[in-house]
Amino acid sequence: MIQYKEVELPILSIVTGAAGELGQDVCRRLLDEGHNVLAILRPGGRKLREFNLPVPVTSIEIDFSNTPSLEDLKAAIESSVRLDRFKKINIVHTAGSFSKEKLPCSQSHLDMWQRMFNIHCVSLYGLVNVLLPYLSKIRQGCIVGVSSNLVSRVNMGTTAYIASKAALEATIKQLAYELGYLNIRCNCIAPGYFPSGLSEGLSKEKQNDLVNNTPLRRIATIEDIGNAILGLLSDHTGWVTGQIITVDGGNTIGF
Ligand SMILES: NC(=O)c1ccc[n+]([C@@H]2O[C@H](COP(=O)([O-])OP(=O)(O)OC[C@H]3O[C@@H](n4cnc5c(N)ncnc54)[C@H](OP(=O)(O)O)[C@@H]3O)[C@@H](O)[C@H]2O)c1
Repeated sequence: MIQYKEVELPILSIVTGAAGELGQDVCRRLLDEGHNVLAILRPGGRKLREFNLPVPVTSIEIDFSNTPSLEDLKAAIESSVRLDRFKKINIVHTAGSFSKEKLPCSQSHLDMWQRMFNIHCVSLYGLVNVLLPYLSKIRQGCIVGVSSNLVSRVNMGTTAYIASKAALEATIKQLAYELGYLNIRCNCIAPGYFPSGLSEGLSKEKQNDLVNNTPLRRIATIEDIGNAILGLLSDHTGWVTGQIITVDGGNTIGF
């Protein structure tokens, strides 16, 4: 059970993909800002104890590729955290998976399509469903999804990934519309390439091309991407909802 912090505004941030490169960075910085963090990890995947987080973090393991029932999801979350103790609840959905198959759409596999949609989009539906009764009472929260700047272009071999991220973006916009009256802001970031396990394998030559086609003339750091998430969670963006914020150094403006 999470040991929540007695601060003026106890905030719970639920982070999916928390052991990922981006997820870790976001967890660390949320902890620094005084948030309570519930980390959602992939069963059999990386564990938080492998990382040097400033305080111990409560974690649960959920495989989003095999969509859990809403009952199981609710039980897993409610047994690890007293949701009624918080005055603000955020969801930061960084969990993601990328198929390295690189098959054209017509040859790609059905189970991969299902996996992509489950991990990127259906998972968020489940989390919102479980948390909504609490969010409805406290009327303070933010949802931030992590899409990709690939959604705005065509790219051979990644249709299921791109389509499922597009579905995530659409879901976030719908949620912004539906939950606005509860003071729940819902936004997405759409990062470009940043170095991580998920994106490994981009050749030096392709990285140089990327730098040359990016107005800010460098490769993103994880912190660049985390900054955008932290910004969307903060009160400085209190009037921003239903937006997809591209975070790619300007790469997609067609420079
Ligand atoms: N890196 C890029 O260039 C790039 C660009 C645009 C968008 N993105 C998006 O950014 C987000 C973070 O990615 P990253 O680059 O930080 O990669 P990452 O390190 O691989 O992080 C992805 C996280 O998602 C988790 N995950 C994967 N499958 C899961 C499942 N079935 N159930 C639950 N969790 C699962 C992973 O678990 P494990 O730790 O156990 O593997 C990992 O913690 C992703 O949504 C990705 O699509 C990345």
